[in-house]
Amino acid sequence: MVVVHGRFSELGAIATESGFSPADLVLFDFGLSSTQIDDPSRGFSFRADGPLDMRMDPDSTLTAAKIVNEYDSAEIERILRQYGEERWARRIAEFIVARRPLRTTRDLAQAVEAAIPRRAWPRDINVATRTFQGLRIAVNDELGEIEQGLRAALLTLKPGGRMATISFHSLEDRLVKSFFNVESKDCICPPQQPVCTCGHRAALRIVTRHPVRPSDQEVAANPRARSARLRVAEKI
Ligand SMILES: C[S@@+](CC[C@H](N)C(=O)[O-])C[C@H]1O[C@@H](n2cnc3c(N)ncnc32)[C@H](O)[C@@H]1O
Repeated sequence: MVVVHGRFSELGAIATESGFSPADLVLFDFGLSSTQIDDPSRGFSFRADGPLDMRMDPDSTLTAAKIVNEYDSAEIERILRQYGEERWARRIAEFIVARRPLRTTRDLAQAVEAAIPRRAWPRDINVATRTFQGLRIAVNDELGEIEQGLRAALLTLKPGGRMATISFHSLEDRLVKSFFNVESKDCICPPQQPVCTCGHRAALRIVTRHPVRPSDQEVAANPRARSARLRVAEKI
């Protein structure tokens, strides 16, 4: 086994340099690890007080503290709405800006709790969940990395090779689904276009028509797996 520290977007170069290109299988397990979530010093969780960090790679520079303490309210609102799917994004952004400087995950969670009227708090998740997800995705460019990683995986696979992805929320799964859909088609021109001009040819065959979900036994054994979605496609 060869372990390499690198980003999904660097998969192509890493596979070539490490001698496993073309590959038989590329497996992506997106998101956060339990080790990261459960370590308060990484700042990923609203459950424990810690620094406003949220970097998956400690060598990278952008932290959640920089976003909440330096970005303008409109940009924070965009991040929470686009990456957190948070409908109170504007109000939370205003409360964050009004309470600067925010230093800890507790400071951030309290800003969210103050911004959203108690009656509007979600019942099934913590009121700060979407804000923390949005900031985390922005800090780590998670969606950009997934897009580049999927493209690199397609180039790295040998014909007949497979890529498998495990997603944990709808934004990740939507990216994979659309990538598989596009790459499993020949022509991708707009349907109303009479003549194909794209020259696109299918490069993938979708193996899992529908995402594979964890069994009840698996969720009972590992509740964090409850939102996992597995998708597989084969390179043509
Ligand atoms: C769900 S965890 C993997 C858990 C692992 N399969 C296990 O069983 O312990 C996802 C891991 O991917 C890493 N990761 C997330 N985005 C990444 C990226 N763009 N490039 C490289 N690693 C990334 C995270 O830091 C995290 O450690």
